[in-house]
Amino acid sequence: MESLYNDLTVEKENLLPNEITDHIKTYSQRGWMFHFMQYCLFTVLVIAYTGLVAILALHFSGDNVHNTDGNCFDRSTLFSPAQEAIVYNTVSPAVPSTDGDPDTTPYGGNPSLEGDAAWARLLRPTNIRISGDELFKMNETSLPLIDGSGDYWGSLEVYHQLHCLKIIREYIALDYYPADLHGDLFTMVPGRVFPTHIDHCLEALRLRLTCQPDLTVMTYHWPEEKAYKPDPDYRTSRKCVDWDKLHEFAINRSFSVLDNIVLGQDGQAWNPALSRESQK
Ligand SMILES: *[C@@H]1O[C@H](CO)[C@@H](O)[C@H](O)[C@H]1NC(C)=O
Ligand SMILES: *[C@@H]1O[C@H](CO)[C@@H](O)[C@H](O)[C@H]1NC(C)=O
Repeated sequence: MESLYNDLTVEKENLLPNEITDHIKTYSQRGWMFHFMQYCLFTVLVIAYTGLVAILALHFSGDNVHNTDGNCFDRSTLFSPAQEAIVYNTVSPAVPSTDGDPDTTPYGGNPSLEGDAAWARLLRPTNIRISGDELFKMNETSLPLIDGSGDYWGSLEVYHQLHCLKIIREYIALDYYPADLHGDLFTMVPGRVFPTHIDHCLEALRLRLTCQPDLTVMTYHWPEEKAYKPDPDYRTSRKCVDWDKLHEFAINRSFSVLDNIVLGQDGQAWNPALSRESQK
């Protein structure tokens, strides 16, 4: 408040209520030492207040929207807009045993229409919108979408990795899936045991597993019946990202390249259907 009084000039004094003008008189009658001390005290208070605000800001930064799980995730990944959708739960997911019940998840067991539909739903938001600001934060560029949104084409790596798992599964069950289902995906190169796309996917998944290794400790137990070796416990508790929430985030941003909104090499909309035809 002192600075406000300092700014008031003598001419304005008669416009002020008595209480304030009285104070200004008292103020100007005090010695320079008093003002100097007041100035020092004021400066110290400002510095202390700024420091306190800075400490609080540091303490709570990232915590207001994201929880501590989000902060944990920040340490293990570069910036991604999907970080806002990360929530962890401690769960014990059911993994089918190695010698029984393979149909416990829609993604496993014998190939079926229901299984294929489940995989299709899982991979639906593979192509998502990334804003220009988000790309800037990633120090990356990508292909613009020419639908007036100003967005760009991106994909979360997890959907690429799930795609890899899906096509490895389909390659194993090649007899079940119609030959033309995959286009040229499984074309064999002479001298190679796997189609190169399968090799790519196996290595992509190996890299993923070793890049952010799951450090959950598995435990071992003897089964109730007599056995020659102990069973590993595949159901140990672990922290898992709430997949439904992350998936919803991706669904919210998803688009289809078949909508022809990706900028093509010729400056026009890219038509993926046409480009596949022209490659044949
Ligand atoms: C951003 O990307 C450019 C080009 O790839 C690179 O030269 C530069 O070092 C990157 N900057 C940062 C801060 O990573
Ligand atoms: C998805 O969009 C809906 C509707 O805009 C919104 O309420 C929801 O919070 C979004 N979910 C995520 C995980 O971003």
